[in-house]
Amino acid sequence: MCYQLDKCHKSMHNARMSHSQYNTSVPSTTNTVYFTRSYAKINVTLDILGKRPDGYHELATIMQTIDLYDTICFSSTSENQVQLICNRQELNTADNLVVRAAEAIRKKLHLTRGVSIELQKRVPVAAGLGGGSSNAAAVLVALQRWWQLPLSQEDLWSMAADLGSDVPFFLTGGLALCEGRGERITPLPAYWPGEMRWLLLVKPTISVSTATVFRNLTAQDYTNGVWSRTVQAMLRAQGPLQTEQFFNGLERGVLAQYEEVAQARQAILAAGATNVRLSGSGPTLFSVFSTLELATKVQQQLIAQGMETYLTRPTTASGNEMHYF
Ligand code: C5P
Repeated sequence: MCYQLDKCHKSMHNARMSHSQYNTSVPSTTNTVYFTRSYAKINVTLDILGKRPDGYHELATIMQTIDLYDTICFSSTSENQVQLICNRQELNTADNLVVRAAEAIRKKLHLTRGVSIELQKRVPVAAGLGGGSSNAAAVLVALQRWWQLPLSQEDLWSMAADLGSDVPFFLTGGLALCEGRGERITPLPAYWPGEMRWLLLVKPTISVSTATVFRNLTAQDYTNGVWSRTVQAMLRAQGPLQTEQFFNGLERGVLAQYEEVAQARQAILAAGATNVRLSGSGPTLFSVFSTLELATKVQQQLIAQGMETYLTRPTTASGNEMHYF
C-alpha cells in the first residue's frame, strides 16, 4: 500500500532527510531507521550490437556513477507490507522499482517483515540517468545489510537482473563495462581524466520511453562494440581519453525523433561547450569540462534560457572521493 505525506510525516521525513545529507558514503543506521544513497549514472559509451531473439538488444556500454543521488530512508513497520512515501507524488505507486525490489526480497526469503521506505528524489525521472534502476539496486543492498539477510551475490544479481537491465550495474556502480542486455558487468578500476572532471547535465523537459527508443533503432545504429572496447582499453591503461570517443548508438534516433533534445544540444554548443552526448536513452545530455569556471559559465547561460541543469562529477559507487588523473 502507498500513502501520501501528511503534516506530521512530512516534518519527520524532512528531519530524517536532512540528517542523511550529512552522512556521506557509509549507509547509516539507528535501531529502527536505515539510510542510503542511490547514485545516478551516465553512459560514456553505448554500442548496440544487434537485436536478440528475446526482443532485447545486445549492448556494450561503459557506465560511470555520478555525484547526483536520491536519498532513501527505511524504517520498521508493524505491518506485513512495503510502504512507499516519495516526495514526487506520481512515483508513489506499487509498481515503483523501490517497492518491487523490496517485495522481491520478501518473496525470495518468504519474509513477513514489513518496511516503510521514504524516497527523496533528486535525480530526474525517465531521463537516461538510471534513477529508477539505481533505487532498485540500493533497496536490495540496503535491506540485505540492514536485515542481515542470507542472500548471496548471485541471488542479488539475479533479482537485480529481473528488475531491469541496468539494475545489476548499480549493485557495484563506479566505472564498469556492461554487456549482454546490460546485466553482465565487468568493473573497471576507478579512473577518470582530470581534464574531464566536471559534468554538466541538461535535462530537456520531455520524457522519453526507453522501449520506444530501442524500437526505433535501424541497422545504421548498430556497431560491433568498437567504441566501448576502445574506451575500456584507454580507461584501463589510464591513458588519454578524447571526447570524440564518447559514443551513444541511441543518440541519432533520439535527436531525429525529439525536437526538444536536438534544440537543447544546439543550445549547449552555442553556450560554449565543445562536446555533448546523450546519456542512455535520454533525454538528458551531458558535456564534460576541465574547469569549474567554464562549466559554470555554460550552465548560467543555459539556466537563463530556462533549462534544467545539474553540475556534477564522476564518483565512486559509494560517493567517495576519486583520484583524477
Ligand atoms: O530492462 P529494462 O526494463 O530497463 O528495459 C526497458 C526497455 O528497453 C525494454 O523493455 C526493451 O524494450 C528496451 N531494452 C532493449 N535492450 C536492452 C535494454 C532495454 O531493447 N538491452
